Amino acid sequence: MTPEILLVYASRYGQTRMIATRIADVVEQEGGRVHPWNVDGIPAAVDLRAFDVVVLAGAVMWGRHARRLRRFISRNLALLSTVRSILVSVSNAACSAEGRPFAEEYAQRLFRETGWQPDSFVLFGGGTTFTKYGFFTRLVMTRVERDHGRGTDRTRDYDYTDWEAVDAFARSLAHDKERVASSE
Ligand SMILES: Cc1cc2nc3c(=O)[nH]c(=O)nc-3n(C[C@H](O)[C@H](O)[C@H](O)COP(=O)(O)O)c2cc1C
Repeated sequence: MTPEILLVYASRYGQTRMIATRIADVVEQEGGRVHPWNVDGIPAAVDLRAFDVVVLAGAVMWGRHARRLRRFISRNLALLSTVRSILVSVSNAACSAEGRPFAEEYAQRLFRETGWQPDSFVLFGGGTTFTKYGFFTRLVMTRVERDHGRGTDRTRDYDYTDWEAVDAFARSLAHDKERVASSE
């Protein structure tokens, strides 16, 4: 028996959406059932209790996860504690060993601020999408990325996601043994 997975994502520039899409594709290839929803479009009537696992995916900007995701968590806090839930946190900090403690702190901050205590969380590197930024964001991100030793060619985008790690996560989700055991 495969778990019924709700996957809610918040993505400003598209990297988290790509990660969510990849997770959904791999889960389905593995025979799992996944329902991906952009947090902006998810119907208010969706009942989290209908799912075995709820995965919330969101990117970090200026040290915090997307406000829309935080709102979703706050609105559904009570229900989230009744299902198995997982955070997928996307940030550029997560793409390097030096950055990982910062990426971890972003996740902990989300848990502190919302009171949500997921069963587990994963940290994935994001990307820098210079071609999608407006003038100000491109300017600031060029400086930030330079300070962190990452690419600063403003005519292109950079992908810092470890896609093998995303695939491995998706496979483990599709074969969620813990859930199957607890449902029997
Ligand atoms: C305005 C802005 C602020 C960001 N702030 C942070 C940050 O504080 N820490 C970090 O690790 N990454 C930061 N990032 C990197 C994003 O987490 C990364 O670009 C991510 O892939 C964006 O996801 P999205 O494409 O789904 O919107 C920032 C990116 C932008 C554009």
